[in-house]
Amino acid sequence: MKPLTIAVPKGRVTRPLVPLLARAGVDASCLSADDRRLIRETPDGALRFLLLKPDDVPTYVEYGAADLGVCGRDVLLERRYDLHQPVDLGTGKCRMMVAAPRGAEIPAVPRVATKYARIASEPFARRGVQAEVIYVQGSVELAPLVGLSHLIVDLVETGATLTENNLEERELICPISSVLVANRSLYKLRQAEVQPLIDRLRSAIL
Ligand code: PRP
Repeated sequence: MKPLTIAVPKGRVTRPLVPLLARAGVDASCLSADDRRLIRETPDGALRFLLLKPDDVPTYVEYGAADLGVCGRDVLLERRYDLHQPVDLGTGKCRMMVAAPRGAEIPAVPRVATKYARIASEPFARRGVQAEVIYVQGSVELAPLVGLSHLIVDLVETGATLTENNLEERELICPISSVLVANRSLYKLRQAEVQPLIDRLRSAIL
């Protein structure tokens, strides 16, 4: 039988996935192997993992190149995808925050640096603030330190990056965690294989 294909993000979000899958009865130790293989299979051949950049996971699932995927809610909120979202896995917990240099006065029309242009514009638009959102790809915390922006919108996990750059949290936009996503038609077509896995994952969530 063709293995179920699951797109997973490379990097720190993968780590809690291995114990979660283990609790669900899946030996996903292949995900921990420190090599460059982009396709990895479980020892029983039932599951195949595709290792991707986090932003690409929904694309592979939406086009049916993967049956299932694990992606951050941040990615799903930033861009619109037509995906089934059966389970919030509760891993990769962090929060989307507005932050600023400690104690800084913020002008009425602030510049906001972020990787999340759509998410960032929402809290300002809601209040009728004409914020100027500036897209950057990473190291977002640098922007207000050198005058590129007054504020940032970014993910905060431990808060260490903010603290070490003398920034402070100003407003919570939303909590974020990893979500299981499924291709809509493959979810129906492969229901007999997908549903038991989803049920086992549900009971494995702490
Ligand atoms: C993320 C995020 C913050 C940092 C927050 O970046 O963009 O910079 O983690 O984590 P903390 O609150 O635990 O310090 P990541 O390390 O994924 O790299 P990036 O800047 O390239 O996105």
